[in-house]
Amino acid sequence: MSDTAKIEFNGQVHEFPLIKGTENELAIEIKSLRGVTDGLVTMDPGFKNTGSCLSGVTFLDGEKGILRYRGYSIEDLAEKADFLEVAYLLIFGELPTADQLQKFHEDIKANSMVDEDVKKILDAFPKTAHPMGILSSLTSALTAFNPSSVNVDSPEEMYQAIVRILGKFPVLVAWTMRKRTGLPLDYGDKKLGYVENILKMMFKMPNEDYEENRIIVDALDKLLILHADHEQNCSTSTVRVVGSSHAGLFASISAGISALWGPLHGGANQAVLEMLEAIKADGGDTKKYMAKAKDKNDPFRLMGFGHRVYKNFDPRARIIKKAADEVLGELGVDDPILDVAKGLEQEALIDSYFVDRKLYPNVDFYSGIIYRAMGIPVEMFTVMFALGRLPGWIAQWREMRLRKEPIGRPRQIYIGETFRDFKKLEER
Ligand code: CMC
Repeated sequence: MSDTAKIEFNGQVHEFPLIKGTENELAIEIKSLRGVTDGLVTMDPGFKNTGSCLSGVTFLDGEKGILRYRGYSIEDLAEKADFLEVAYLLIFGELPTADQLQKFHEDIKANSMVDEDVKKILDAFPKTAHPMGILSSLTSALTAFNPSSVNVDSPEEMYQAIVRILGKFPVLVAWTMRKRTGLPLDYGDKKLGYVENILKMMFKMPNEDYEENRIIVDALDKLLILHADHEQNCSTSTVRVVGSSHAGLFASISAGISALWGPLHGGANQAVLEMLEAIKADGGDTKKYMAKAKDKNDPFRLMGFGHRVYKNFDPRARIIKKAADEVLGELGVDDPILDVAKGLEQEALIDSYFVDRKLYPNVDFYSGIIYRAMGIPVEMFTVMFALGRLPGWIAQWREMRLRKEPIGRPRQIYIGETFRDFKKLEER
């Protein structure tokens, strides 16, 4: 195979080098394209064919349904690791030793206090505010109470920025939920594990002792691992682009939260549950909604189906589907929504519209059912996704800054008016 690609333009042939990744993915490097062709740019709406960076964090093969963090398969990690180990792996590149993991956890705990004034900001939100909006605002607000930028050439400063956000973020997540449920804010318990403490901060009642439920802890741990990174998706690309202007880590993550909020991305988990509820309330007629999803004149889409890169199956959905059955069984929850979900899935898997377009259930199709069984309100589902994605955002931000990537600044092809003479108000 040749190691260059040619573009012929205006009678001239220009040669561009190919870049090959460790999994043999190929890219044409067109850094010099504009210069050598006198202004030619590429056009790729939605970046469906555009690589934005070289990355060593996550590998996924959408055709084969492979997802690996730092080389380890998602199946192995979901089965054998815990969320904090996975966070360390994603961010620093290697699985931690027992000592490294303990130190990491201690440092995170030492940074878990949030300035009391942040509570005043939270107070000002109406109870009806969407938790994703609150979370994004509070994460951005942390910039005012902590160093707003980080010297990326100092490993110590980088490490501190990372443990600081990993410590404070779960507190904000829990507070956004307690704001909604009207419960007093809680800091949890330093003696608990990372995920155990998150659940305690979310669910501890002021007038009773908190009892840990191992089934729920394990299920949340698994869900967070499955969401922890997914290479250059919409929110991660946002974090990288915002960070590329040298905005601080809190500001970059806050932007990522906003990107995740949309129903085509992380917001799909909330949209899936609302859709399943609506189908159930409408008599459970899944065929009617399948027809709506296929009708080009109807804006309805089957939420939780389809993926930009997985065109065969989403390996995370397989793990979650199994987990949903187990968790609901163990908790003794009989959720009729699960039957609607299974009905939709079975029909879609044999329907030519979905088969031809390679639309399969994605990670969000079953995650909401588990969150609901855990007692998490539906508006909090995307917040839980953000909690899981945090290590991935951090890892990608850190990689981008350490590689000294240039500021993200795409080109465009202008299609507006050409030059016009200005007309004064009285002449228009
Ligand atoms: N229901 C019905 N039709 C669909 C769906 C769907 N969920 N998804 C895609 N299609 C159709 C679409 O109408 C188009 O048809 P045609 O070729 O006839 O015009 C074709 O399939 C290709 O769709 P696309 O929108 O060009 O594909 P995309 O890669 O740009 O979009 C997607 C991917 C995930 C945004 C889209 O599949 C979707 O909107 N799914 C529902 C929302 C969802 O579940 N999102 C969560 C994604 S997984 C979590 C995450 O990583 O964020």
